[in-house]
Amino acid sequence: MLKSALALCLSLLLGSAWAAPAAGLSSPDGRLRIQLDIDGEGHARYSVLRNGQAVISPSRLGFLLTDAPKLDRHFTLTARSERSFDERWEQPWGEQRYIRNHYKELRLTLTEDASQKRSIDLILRAYDDGVALRYQFPDQSMLQNVNIGEELTEFNIASPATAWWNTAFEWNREEYLFKRTPVQEVGLAQTPMTMRTDKGLHISIHEAALVDYAGMNLARVEDRRFKAMLTPGSGGLPKVQRRAPFATPWRMILITETAAQLAESRTILNLNEPNAIGDVSWFKPMKYVGIWWEMHQDIATWGSGDKHGATTANALEHIDFAAKNGFGGVLIEGWNQGWDGDWVANGDKFSFTKPYPDFDLERITAYAKSKGVQLIGHHETSANAANYESQLGAALDLYSRLGVVSVKTGYVSDAAQARVPGADGVVRYGWHEGQDMARHHLKVVQEAAKRQIAINPHEPVKDTGLRRTYPNWISREGSRGQEFNAWGNPGNPPEHEANLVFTRLLAGPMDFTPGIFGMKTRQPTGVATTWAKQLALYVVIYSPIQMAADLLTNYEANPKPFQFIKDVPTDWSETRVLNGEVGDFVTIARKDRNSEDWFLGAVTDEHARSLNIKLDFLTPGQRYRAHIYRDGAKANYTTAREDIVIEQREVKAGTSLQLRLAPGGGQAIRFEKLAAR
Ligand code: NOJ
Ligand code: CA
Repeated sequence: MLKSALALCLSLLLGSAWAAPAAGLSSPDGRLRIQLDIDGEGHARYSVLRNGQAVISPSRLGFLLTDAPKLDRHFTLTARSERSFDERWEQPWGEQRYIRNHYKELRLTLTEDASQKRSIDLILRAYDDGVALRYQFPDQSMLQNVNIGEELTEFNIASPATAWWNTAFEWNREEYLFKRTPVQEVGLAQTPMTMRTDKGLHISIHEAALVDYAGMNLARVEDRRFKAMLTPGSGGLPKVQRRAPFATPWRMILITETAAQLAESRTILNLNEPNAIGDVSWFKPMKYVGIWWEMHQDIATWGSGDKHGATTANALEHIDFAAKNGFGGVLIEGWNQGWDGDWVANGDKFSFTKPYPDFDLERITAYAKSKGVQLIGHHETSANAANYESQLGAALDLYSRLGVVSVKTGYVSDAAQARVPGADGVVRYGWHEGQDMARHHLKVVQEAAKRQIAINPHEPVKDTGLRRTYPNWISREGSRGQEFNAWGNPGNPPEHEANLVFTRLLAGPMDFTPGIFGMKTRQPTGVATTWAKQLALYVVIYSPIQMAADLLTNYEANPKPFQFIKDVPTDWSETRVLNGEVGDFVTIARKDRNSEDWFLGAVTDEHARSLNIKLDFLTPGQRYRAHIYRDGAKANYTTAREDIVIEQREVKAGTSLQLRLAPGGGQAIRFEKLAAR
């Protein structure tokens, strides 16, 4: 009896790839577990379980170094310490005001049992909705300059799943349509990559706190096993060059039952350090209009000449419109010299201090100020970070003197064609998410913070939650935005935003630029949306800076639907994701941070949907007027996009609403709190 039980145990042990865990850690609610084992050759491997079931099977850890033996085996566990943490912190602005940061953490020291005896610390964290790990290189004489050729972190997905992913290392950077495939058909993916297992569990792999390190991509090796693939270093340099001690970014794996819970996770922020720049009350979340869509529609040009968009007259008109309609800002692109000719190729030509002669910068900023509106600055660099850095101080000083508090930056160029200074000051060709560009972006954000300026980069390095540490990093692009509906080939399909919510937006805010009513564009099929959906996007996509992207004439001609854009806030005290499936549909309710009003946005893909919503987020006992902007009976993203019904009704907490979304449609609602009777 005893003999056969022993034999069974032995065969179980030998038959599985799992060695006995050397250490492990459970989430505060006890459901998630991340554990480490060390195999016979001394490879350290982590695995993740949920309710005792494998989510990540044993996955290797370690590094290839370019000038020293690799660091991945002959490890023994030489020290461990554990702690738990629980705090509530306040965002200066955000999708919710207070965030609970509750986790358990285990720090393990792995030391080589070989001639070198180098050590590395592994820090594991478990939250209720995900786990994370990071490496810490200690100060040690054997490894002071750490030159990383590759990170060997793996992610071995335990069960069959569908993946939503974006290709990595393609020429147009992160601006691709999301793919939906079985996990086994993923190629080289960017993060966040989102998965739903066949049993319905949702998983998202991404990284947090990408500081002075290369971005992480995921390369599928075989079956469902992925390896980290770091973005290459500039000009053939190692992927990462650091001096110890330092910590890598966190490798974060969100694991939730529903898609909605993924979108409600704030773990990426909790993995970042608290605010490092102090008071940021000089920036206020706002909506803005701009001299922008007219360039994307080829009605105006960035460069000088007859069609120049950034003229003083046009700027003043936009400022008047913003003031009249309660918008905080006006973005003006093409104001500075350097756009003439092939601006994408001539990043070295941009001046960030010299306006074109038909743009009176001083007069425009003074006029804006007199109207209570701010100019939103613009620095397109064409990814010539070297040219930008050489003018950075002067460029930001100019805006600071003129009272400009936020600047949109841009890095249009093909992937790997950025011109970026390295730590040694030498300018090389680099990737948008390489270590040098990660460093460049942070430098811009820090220099801007010193001058009380907020930054919103397009074609950026990926968002990894650094807005917690640097709240002036207010938003960014980093995916296909609305601009693709102006000229993209193809434009964005109706499922695009329902993909974004559960992929790119898990990383952080996006300057998507919603609000297009003019449905005919340079893109032959126009904008694949309904008007109601354009309105819903102001709630569905979070950003503290939200554009009303269309031409002013389209708003002037359509005051009724425009009313929602005027009313919707950009700063929230609470967010509830009421329902949603990745790439199909989503409904989000958010409470205004500055009033008792709630707002709701629902969007669908190309399929019509009827969603039942219970208004249990409203305050019990209060009455609200629901201002409803819904798809009309004929609404459709190809034919009757403008078919919108605007109506009002009184509701209270607990009322059920049936949201009927047209193909490619949506619905937007403002719940205006009424005075007590
Ligand atoms: C690409 C940005 O995404 C877009 O918003 C901007 O207008 C152009 N670059 C020009 O800077
Ligand atoms: Ca772009």
